[in-house]
Amino acid sequence: MELRIEEDGINSYDEVMLIYRSALKQMNTRLEILSEEFQNTYKYNPIEHIKSRMKSGDSIARKLRRRGYEPSLENMVRHCNDIAGIRIICSFTSDIYHLADIIQKQEDIEVIMIKDYIKNPKASGYKSYHMVAKVPVYFSEQTIEAKVEIQIRTIAMDFWASLEHKIQYKFVGEAPEHIRRELLECSAMISALDAKMLSLNIEIQEQSEKEDREAALRERERRKAKLRAQGHELYRNEEEEW
Ligand code: GTP
Ligand code: MG
Repeated sequence: MELRIEEDGINSYDEVMLIYRSALKQMNTRLEILSEEFQNTYKYNPIEHIKSRMKSGDSIARKLRRRGYEPSLENMVRHCNDIAGIRIICSFTSDIYHLADIIQKQEDIEVIMIKDYIKNPKASGYKSYHMVAKVPVYFSEQTIEAKVEIQIRTIAMDFWASLEHKIQYKFVGEAPEHIRRELLECSAMISALDAKMLSLNIEIQEQSEKEDREAALRERERRKAKLRAQGHELYRNEEEEW
């Protein structure tokens, strides 16, 4: 059940924030588990690192006012999707879609919004994959679902977004035209870099898979030769089939 202020008997800001904080912990733990699994089971981990944050009360109120809503508990729950926010930094663009898919497949997670700013970058040049997901939180008397905003991006996209954010902050969102243009150019460079790194990675992976296959083949030949030398019955007949 999605968080509803009146029906759930929630009547204070602290209670609402506890719910969102818990949902954030839930999501964080699930991602840490995935990260550890990748680390242990596979050759590489698509998750470089994870950051999470709770939006401050001031920031929630400012956002609501900016959108024409009174800052109330009801409005913050209904209109603010990023009270709990997680940012996952991946190595390659392909990792982003892989991870998004894994998250969506978790049975009790419901993805209610996707904004793919990689396929459709913002006018600023911003690229990232955004999802808003509802996560269940198990309390003593009830289970409440709360929204978590998940931003998934590559290291390069994160690098661009962090610097662009600082620059925009300096100019209070009104950076001069030539700076905005150059930032857009930087965004294109970042995308080229991501594409290059991805193709390099594919090449390296293919090479390493080829080496693995060759090593397995050599090992099989070595074992066969050993058995043959021992006069194993399979090898008594030279015409033996393989
Ligand atoms: P916000 O009111 O900013 O939360 O926007 P929104 O609710 O319409 O959601 P949107 O998916 O557009 O953006 C959410 C978040 O993405 C922002 O809070 C930033 O963290 C990030 N973001 C979006 N656009 C930009 C951008 O142009 N530059 C940078 N650096 N970050 C951006
Ligand atoms: Mg936001």
